[in-house]
Amino acid sequence: LANGLAVTPPMGWNSWNHFNCFINETIIRETADALVSTGLAKLGYRYVNIDDCWAEYNRDAKGYLVARKSTFPSGIKALADYVHNKGLKLGIYSDAGYQTCSKTMPGSLGHEEQDAYTFASWGIDYLKYDNCNNDGSKPTVRYPKMTRALMKTGRPIFFSLCEWGDMHPALWGASVGNSWRTTNDITDNWESMVSRADQNEVYAEYARPGGWNDPDMLEVGNGGMTKDEYIIHFSIWAISKAPLLIGCDLRNMTKDTMEILGNEEVIAVNQDPLGVQAKKVRMEGSLEIWAGPLSGYRTVVLLVNRGSTREAITANWDDIGIPLDTVVEARDLWEPNFVCIFIGFLQHETLHEQFKQKLTATIDPHVCKMYVLKPID
Ligand code: GLA
Repeated sequence: LANGLAVTPPMGWNSWNHFNCFINETIIRETADALVSTGLAKLGYRYVNIDDCWAEYNRDAKGYLVARKSTFPSGIKALADYVHNKGLKLGIYSDAGYQTCSKTMPGSLGHEEQDAYTFASWGIDYLKYDNCNNDGSKPTVRYPKMTRALMKTGRPIFFSLCEWGDMHPALWGASVGNSWRTTNDITDNWESMVSRADQNEVYAEYARPGGWNDPDMLEVGNGGMTKDEYIIHFSIWAISKAPLLIGCDLRNMTKDTMEILGNEEVIAVNQDPLGVQAKKVRMEGSLEIWAGPLSGYRTVVLLVNRGSTREAITANWDDIGIPLDTVVEARDLWEPNFVCIFIGFLQHETLHEQFKQKLTATIDPHVCKMYVLKPID
């Protein structure tokens, strides 16, 4: 959507994956605090997004949405001010139907202009717009109504289409929103995560600055996968130019979770100015090679072992789009460099070996290797 936003994929946090409906203004404020104190805000995680269940069941007498008194007594405007004072942005949630998915609050169908105006007047920066309990009409009719209403407010508001991929929003989302869900809801386990990754991959060509495919929010840190599986999850989302919306409780994060979400070089791949989504370029049984171009003639490669035995995986230049006679240096974005650890900071490793025609790594089950390849002249 040409609203000047989402030049690179959005980064931030959303309440749903960890808290579901059990949210309140204290959690939102403490999450904003944690984004800053952990250093994640500085790395680019700016949006603090409130999901479903923030409003009263009924609109007020004039038809306006009202923040839920029991859980958001200070109101949303106060929360926006709080978040803005920290240099962060506030997101909110509504639905292109009569009620949201939780059925605990109204949706915006028929109230698009009124609600867009309310959100803008509160200082909202991001709207996630769900698809439950609608009137049966097409999302291609209901979603653009909100697009126009948001544009009319004059406030730049990131517009996230949460249509779950039913009507292939990648095909029509670019003029309607800044991102579009390509899948149903993720759950915190390996099968759910990799199937979201696959369903999203199909639409790679449609991602570009201003509008991104969205395979749903991150589960990293929620406990249902191993550390290596979460590394695969984060790596695929990064190369897929997916929104990086953290879905765990940032107030109680482990060191491993911080190490994954805070990997600056992986974030840089996601935020690369070229804005091209990587694709799965080769599959051999449960061994996968994903690759995509980055700025500066670099290439990102992800080797994933989805099987149950240790295997060698080879990325051939032919498959990943590098001219055959090109010699590259490879930076391993997850392997820690021990010299740097010794002097007290986490840095990753540029391999000593240079590569020609192919790169092979032997990889354990449910483990990945992520490289940025750079031509040597
Ligand atoms: C839908 C969305 C989820 C979440 C819930 C809230 O299922 O896809 O991401 O917003 O609704 O009820």
